[in-house]
Amino acid sequence: MGASPLQNCAHDPQIASRQRPGHPTRGQPARTVHLIVAIANQKGGVGKTTTAVNLAAALAMRRRNVLLIDLDPQANSSISFLDHTAIGRSTYDAIADANTSLRDIILPASLPNLSIAPAKIGLAKLEARLVGEMDAHFRLKDKIDQLQGEFAHIVIDCPPALGLLTVNALVASTHLLIPIQSSYFALEGTDDLLETIEKVRQRPNPSLRILGVVITMHDKRTALARDIREQIQKVFGSKVFRTVITKSVRLEESPAYKESIFTFAPDSTGATDYYSLCEEVIERAEARTA
Ligand SMILES: Nc1ncnc2c1ncn2[C@@H]1O[C@H](COP(=O)(O)OP(=O)(O)O)[C@@H](O)[C@H]1O
Ligand SMILES: [Mg+2]
Repeated sequence: MGASPLQNCAHDPQIASRQRPGHPTRGQPARTVHLIVAIANQKGGVGKTTTAVNLAAALAMRRRNVLLIDLDPQANSSISFLDHTAIGRSTYDAIADANTSLRDIILPASLPNLSIAPAKIGLAKLEARLVGEMDAHFRLKDKIDQLQGEFAHIVIDCPPALGLLTVNALVASTHLLIPIQSSYFALEGTDDLLETIEKVRQRPNPSLRILGVVITMHDKRTALARDIREQIQKVFGSKVFRTVITKSVRLEESPAYKESIFTFAPDSTGATDYYSLCEEVIERAEARTA
């Protein structure tokens, strides 16, 4: 691989973002786009958490305050940055309890400008707890509204299901990003996801935009992966991001070190891919608000 755009900046992502040629944080950002982006796909293991963690980190490197909200009871994105023992109250409390705000549960991540609203396994009980509540689908949105723009961007990591938690994320979000794994069964289940998105758009959140579909764990050496990419492009057309996330062992390793890919392996293809995805995300979001 050639020189990464992130080379020489392993230990200071903020400096990294200032030094990168053409990077929007040199001077003032051209426009201020406020993203609340849900990372959703009801299939497990497609790269939701890896995308949420590294997109949130990339956005934070642009020197804007970023909040990563973990809505998966498995808490993978929380423990990608935090130790289990550091997590007290969680997104369960913020959503279930009227008197707990997101501010009460938010913890700082090891990266400047990045905070986390962590999850715990107890979040799995939320659905049962909210049965019959009139505002069950709006709980997260209401709590995000209370933050009054304190965070420039919010990234929400969804669980592998289309239940109440994912619907709460879709209702609260301005944008949706769908990771699709480069695999033979890539498109299985996407109809159900699109149906849920349409239902959310019809009533609770008509302004929800599909920012795009990102192909993850792609191995460009294989003919199968190329076929799958074509298939995905046939179905989603221009919604598919130009950036494809290639398979990278470094991306698998970084959570164990409680780091994003940008500090753990800044020269890896994983860092280059997620950096470029972040640029495209901002580009697309800005194009829509222009
Ligand atoms: N681009 C990638 N290359 C290699 N491994 C990856 C990549 N993206 C994700 N993984 C690994 O695949 C597994 C599932 O990814 P994850 O992001 O947890 O998916 P999800 O949140 O959709 O369940 C994890 O072990 C993760 O480290
Ligand atoms: Mg996950």
